[in-house]
Parts: sequence; structure tokens; C-alpha cells
Amino acid sequence: MKKMNFFSTGILFAFIALTLANCGGDKENAIDKPKPEENSCDGVNAKFAANVLPLIQDKCQHCHTPGGIAPFALQTYDQIKAKASNIKDAAVINSRMPKGGPALTAAEKKILGCWIDGGALNN
Ligand code: HEC
Repeated sequence: MKKMNFFSTGILFAFIALTLANCGGDKENAIDKPKPEENSCDGVNAKFAANVLPLIQDKCQHCHTPGGIAPFALQTYDQIKAKASNIKDAAVINSRMPKGGPALTAAEKKILGCWIDGGALNN
């Protein structure tokens, strides 16, 4: 019985030690490097010509074209910039667009959302 208690106490101490070690580690990480989702546009370098336009050509323009089934075209920078906040709402936040799906992938949403958050520049 005594042996058993000693053994259990050992496990208990090991458990406490591990728990404390883990807590300390988490705290340090939280201070030193914020979780990726808190700064989700950090390191995302989304450019209009290289990233955004090809994405919109691929995922939006078969409807958002003059004479297409969508009520406005998304072809030029000016057209896209004018609708930037609607585009973010429709395709990044709520996945209403592309109409009928499939929704943009997480990576595509990041490109579009971070480009818009960065001021929707013609870059
Ligand atoms: C299959 C055709 C189709 C595709 C693909 C499509 N749209 Fe649309 N879109 C429409 C139609 C039709 C409307 C008119 C409103 C409606 O019917 O919902 C519309 C409306 C919109 C609107 C305004 C209304 C709203 O819901 O906010 C935005 C913004 C928009 N589309 C953005 C996009 C973006 C960005 C893409 C590509 C990621 C895209 N759409 C792809 C058909 C499409």
C-alpha cells in the first residue's frame, strides 16, 4: 500500500510538472508570436495584376461579364475596385459568390480579402 502511494505521488508530480511546463510554454508563445489568425494578412502579398485579377477571371468572369447573367461586370480594375467591399462580403465572408458554388478556397479568400483590406490597390 505504501509503495502504491509513492508510485501514485510520483505520477501526480510528473503530471503537475508537465502541466506547468505546458502552461509556461503557451504563455510565452502568446506573448512572443501572436496566433496566425490574429494577423491573418501578415506575410500575404496579394497583388492585383498577379493574384487578384487571375482569380476573378477564373472564378467570377464567366458570369460577371458584359451581357453575362450577373448584373455587373468584374473585368477592369475600376469595376473591381468599385465593388471591393461587396466582393469581400459576397465571396470572402459569406461565400454567396461564386453563385451556385463552389466557394473560394481559404487561400483564394485570403488573397482577395487581404488585397481589399490593404486598400484594393492597382498593384
Ligand atoms: C454562376 C454565375 C456567377 C459567378 C461565377 C459569380 N457570380 Fe456574382 N453574381 C451573379 C448573379 C446572378 C448576381 C446577382 C445577384 C444574385 O443573383 O444573387 C451576382 C451578384 C454579385 C454581387 C452583388 C450581390 C451580392 O450578393 O453581394 C457580388 C458582390 C458578386 N456577385 C461578386 C462575385 C464574385 C467576387 C465572384 C467570383 C468570386 C462572383 N460573383 C461569381 C452570378 C455569379
